[in-house]
Amino acid sequence: MPIEIAASILSADFVNLEQELGRVAQADWIHVDVMDAHFVPNLTIGLPVVERIVQVSPCPVDVHLMIDQPDRWAPAYAEAGARSVTFHLEAAKAPVRLARELRRLGARAAVGLNPATPVSALEDLVEELDMVLVMSVEPGFGGQSFIERSCGKIGAVKRLVGGRPVAIQVDGGISRATVRWVAQAGATNLVAGSALFGSADPAAEIAALRELSR
Ligand code: DX5
Ligand code: ZN
Repeated sequence: MPIEIAASILSADFVNLEQELGRVAQADWIHVDVMDAHFVPNLTIGLPVVERIVQVSPCPVDVHLMIDQPDRWAPAYAEAGARSVTFHLEAAKAPVRLARELRRLGARAAVGLNPATPVSALEDLVEELDMVLVMSVEPGFGGQSFIERSCGKIGAVKRLVGGRPVAIQVDGGISRATVRWVAQAGATNLVAGSALFGSADPAAEIAALRELSR
């Protein structure tokens, strides 16, 4: 399976979002970072804006919730039409129930792990998931450097997933310089923000990331 590219709009021009979505239409997913200034020290957008993004996006929408109380807020993003909804294990009170609810609403259920959260925390949850997100930076901001230890962690997630159809997403510091490492470690879905929107030609950048991950 060719690797999937998720374009993170965190580094896009938020005043011209529809136009910015068009610049990354060659991606497989539009990755939308929702931050609440509690779970992470940054604040972005919430449900009303995501609802409109879903309506105009050229690609399926992958919502990454960096928020407290995902048990309460995440289902509404699935109801809004996000094809994939990621909540953080560190914030969820009842992750099995929440993953089941997301699937029931027709979304892919995904769980994110911060850099210091061990993969073993997923052992009793992996059956309930369509995707695991390995954060390769501390969540909250675009443009940070890739944490090298993440490659070992991707390998550990791959072993845990085994033959199950669970995607392995990596988010943070993905660029031409790091894409090979994560692809070789077993990532199947790469989030890229500053590497795409910081480029004059995001389409060429998406093609380069695909090529380098082969
Ligand atoms: C950071 C976000 C990322 C961010 C990645 O917490 O979850 O999706 O946009 O940005 P880059 O690709 O610039 O590291
Ligand atoms: Zn993200």
